[in-house]
Amino acid sequence: MDNPMRVVSLLRFLSIVITISICPCNGNLISVPCKEYERQALLMLKQDLKDPSNRLSSWVGGEGDCCNWTGVICDKKTGHVRELHLGNYYADEEFSSESSSLGGKLNPSLLNLKHLSYLDLYRNDFEGKQIPSFLGSLKSLRYLNLSEARFGGTIPPQLGNLSSLRTLDLFDNLLVVENLQWISGLSLLQHLNIAGIDLSKVSHWLQGTNTLPSQLVELHMSECDLGVLPGGISNMTSLRVLNLDYNSISSIIPIWLYTFSNLETLVLSENNFHGEISSSIGNLTALVNLDTSDNQLDGKIPNSLGNLCKLMVLEFSRNNFSGSISEIFESLSTCSSGRIELLGLSDNNLSGYLSQLGNFKNLGSLDFSSNSISGPIPVSLGNLSCLESLDIGNNQLEGVVSEVHFTNLTKLKYFYASENSLTLKTSLDWLPPFQLNTLFLNSWHLEPSELPAWLQTQTKLYALNLSNTAISGIIPTWFWNFSSLGLGLLDLSYNQLYGKVPNIDSMSSEVINLGSNQFHGSLPLFSSHITTLDLSNSSFSGTLFHFFCDKTDGPKQLEILQLQDNFLNGEIPDCLDNLQNLTLLNLENNNLGGNIPASVGHLGLLRSLHLRNNHLSGEVPTSLQKCESLFLLDLHKNEFVGTIPTWIGKSLSHLGILSLRSNMLHDNIPHELCSLRNLQILDVADNHLSGAIPTCFKNFTAMANFSNSRDPILFSTISFGDGEASFEDNYIENAILVRKGREMEYNKILTLVTSLDLSDNFISGEIPEELTSLIYLQSFNLSGNLLVGKIPSKIGDMRWLESLDLSRNKLTGQISPSMSKLTFLSNLNLSYNYLTGQIPESTQLQSLDRSSFFGNKLCGPPLEKCSTTHGGSSISSGDQKKGGIGRLLEDGWLDLSLGLGFAFGFWSVLGSLLLNMPWSTGFSRFQNNIVSKLYAIIQEKL
Ligand SMILES: *[C@@H]1O[C@H](CO)[C@@H](O)[C@H](O)[C@H]1NC(C)=O
Ligand SMILES: *[C@@H]1O[C@H](CO)[C@@H](O)[C@H](O)[C@H]1NC(C)=O
Ligand SMILES: *[C@@H]1O[C@H](CO)[C@@H](O)[C@H](O)[C@H]1NC(C)=O
Ligand SMILES: *[C@@H]1O[C@H](CO)[C@@H](O)[C@H](O)[C@H]1NC(C)=O
Ligand SMILES: *[C@@H]1O[C@H](CO)[C@@H](O)[C@H](O)[C@H]1NC(C)=O
Repeated sequence: MDNPMRVVSLLRFLSIVITISICPCNGNLISVPCKEYERQALLMLKQDLKDPSNRLSSWVGGEGDCCNWTGVICDKKTGHVRELHLGNYYADEEFSSESSSLGGKLNPSLLNLKHLSYLDLYRNDFEGKQIPSFLGSLKSLRYLNLSEARFGGTIPPQLGNLSSLRTLDLFDNLLVVENLQWISGLSLLQHLNIAGIDLSKVSHWLQGTNTLPSQLVELHMSECDLGVLPGGISNMTSLRVLNLDYNSISSIIPIWLYTFSNLETLVLSENNFHGEISSSIGNLTALVNLDTSDNQLDGKIPNSLGNLCKLMVLEFSRNNFSGSISEIFESLSTCSSGRIELLGLSDNNLSGYLSQLGNFKNLGSLDFSSNSISGPIPVSLGNLSCLESLDIGNNQLEGVVSEVHFTNLTKLKYFYASENSLTLKTSLDWLPPFQLNTLFLNSWHLEPSELPAWLQTQTKLYALNLSNTAISGIIPTWFWNFSSLGLGLLDLSYNQLYGKVPNIDSMSSEVINLGSNQFHGSLPLFSSHITTLDLSNSSFSGTLFHFFCDKTDGPKQLEILQLQDNFLNGEIPDCLDNLQNLTLLNLENNNLGGNIPASVGHLGLLRSLHLRNNHLSGEVPTSLQKCESLFLLDLHKNEFVGTIPTWIGKSLSHLGILSLRSNMLHDNIPHELCSLRNLQILDVADNHLSGAIPTCFKNFTAMANFSNSRDPILFSTISFGDGEASFEDNYIENAILVRKGREMEYNKILTLVTSLDLSDNFISGEIPEELTSLIYLQSFNLSGNLLVGKIPSKIGDMRWLESLDLSRNKLTGQISPSMSKLTFLSNLNLSYNYLTGQIPESTQLQSLDRSSFFGNKLCGPPLEKCSTTHGGSSISSGDQKKGGIGRLLEDGWLDLSLGLGFAFGFWSVLGSLLLNMPWSTGFSRFQNNIVSKLYAIIQEKL
């Protein structure tokens, strides 16, 4: 093959030769030079313009024809200046956008260009200055392009005098629009772009008819802060292009829109359009591009879509459409299937099987991910020879996918197919026809169940996810060589891979997840580029020394490091200053000993430090104060001694979760802790703490107020890759809570969880009545201490309490009657105190196990009847729910339609759903949706 560059330059040369040879023969082409007064006008214009990159260097005084100046086009016959092309098209070239833009002021000398019909000032920088009102006097102007030129202030109504104007582009300026009346004066206007301009103040006016010129052919109103559909559009039956995306329009698609028979492009995405699409959509036979993605449209997608024979782009993703996908494919097959290039149906409620796909000969992008499509993938997929991007993830597809499914997919680059029940069966010597950039097959079944040898042929692979694919064996050497090519993301987690992992410091990957396998040997070394590394839950052993301390090819970028659940031993090396970008460090469940090294103080970005279940000892180091970003500190189950440092309250003010459980800390709980307003989980159980419970615990605001945030706590790497293959790898924060003696892991719903656990210490004194103001506390455990006095009388105010354990103390008196108000309580333990009298009556308390009350002098259900001499209080409340949420959980029973008045324990419900679920990049989005939806339902019912 010839060098293509050479071919291009040859063609250019030819065209020059041709031009030169033709010109002399054509006398008519000799043009009239420009008019002197117009030349002067241009020079004055230049004088007032800032032109830092000297783009107008050809605009000079003296002799010379101004028709030859940069950006100036004259009428050849008359010599009048007709067009000014002053747009900044250099931004993406060698100049930076600032330096190549024009700025300053537009001189009114422009008015001397009486024949000016075209003015383009695209992407210059007029620094928020007003559009000069004299522009309205350019009577000949037919084309005015001010897009992205950073004009500001109000739009001068004089623009309405531009009676010849056909095209007006004001896209994305800094304009404030209080009045758009002047637009109705533009009686010849065909093309209007006011996208990116806040029109919320004139939305009322936009409702009227005859507001916008009804002869418009193209109207762009994206991102205009519209909340209602401008009624004025209803007259514009000549529209060919209507673009309303990125507004907040809440409306059905109005019936009049289906009469716009000239429409070629209709973009309604990113709004709140709801209701069904009318079957009259089939009347819009000129449609080429239809985009209603990111709305709440529902119902079936009408079969009349089959009448739209010109369709090339059809984007219905992220709505609530239901019905069968095969019906959609069938209707499109009526006439448009051969033309369609993009078909987007993702994130809907579509079901059914896939039918024949072979007709979609031009399809380049097909996305029906996150639906409920089942059955096998038809072999005709292999006919889609234009297919570049295929996303079928998160469905219920099943069956075998084999080589024949890919026969003619020579252009396939992006293949996302995670979370299906599919099996990929390929021969050992398969040579795939494609060169993939992205391959996501997580939760597939691979046959043979090993790393596919054909991956070696994929020299352009950037992202590979084979998580949970049941592959086993030793990772072959070719794989490491191949993956050092340019793989940015590698996920082989949740498999049965074993053997040693070699040092792969030549790999340029940003994200590597090899977690949950059976690798052994010492930790491999990685390149400094890596930002996320997960080697957790394997059998790695040895020390952390080389891994942390060896200098690599540059400063380490590592942000997320997960090494938990291995057999690592030795000390945490004192060279954490090598890892200053760390935001999450998880070393829990290893055999690490020694102190936490002082260099931990270099981790100023660290938000999460998991050291649970090791043999770390010594005092909690003071250098930890410098980790001011910490949100989670988990030192549970180690051998720390000394006191709870007072500086925690002051320095670690972002702490939300603090667990010091099961260590050997002694002395009082410092009052300084009380300034941790964000603390939602405090666990200091099983230490040697003494003294009283600080009354200032009432200051734990996060335990007193209902959490507004329902989002999981994410650790995101900055997105990497680009275009179709850009990724953001999210790790979800988790915390272990001990409840009813069991360790439970919370992750997705962690922000909703609150807990205070001081159990098994030597804490004395009374339970401060003030603590009852922590009304959002869900789990409260004071058992196994030396507490005296009564149960706080206002305990019933803590209406979110789901678990309350006051057992094994020296509490006296009667059970506060207010306790019968705790309707969400599923776990109560008051055993082994000196409580007396009758157990207050409420369905909730009586449904609990008798053991909750053992070892006291209590009577009444569920214990024996009180003898009449006993007296005691008896409170009954009418509308108690049967059983507790804990019971729902234990039975694995959940029915949202029960209308139980979900104002209780909802977090536990979500918890049971999501607890310990394996997650993956693709799947987590799905789970988050469940949480959000449940939360919305629950809030409605509150
Ligand atoms: C204005 O100029 C920009 C840059 O050339 C172009 O993309 C846009 O389409 C123009 N606007 C109109 C309405 O022609
Ligand atoms: C716009 O519609 C109204 C009725 O809704 C009609 O009276 C008026 O003539 C229409 N204007 C144009 C320009 O078609
Ligand atoms: C679409 O066309 C059908 C058949 O011509 C007609 O009955 C129906 O009213 C049209 N829909 C609209 C909204 O004009
Ligand atoms: C693949 O493409 C070739 C050439 O375009 C064609 O002859 C063949 O029928 C196609 N095969 C399939 C399965 O579509
Ligand atoms: C608790 O909060 C109150 C009121 O905001 C404040 O005055 C007090 O100093 C706080 N106590 C502690 C120990 O932080």
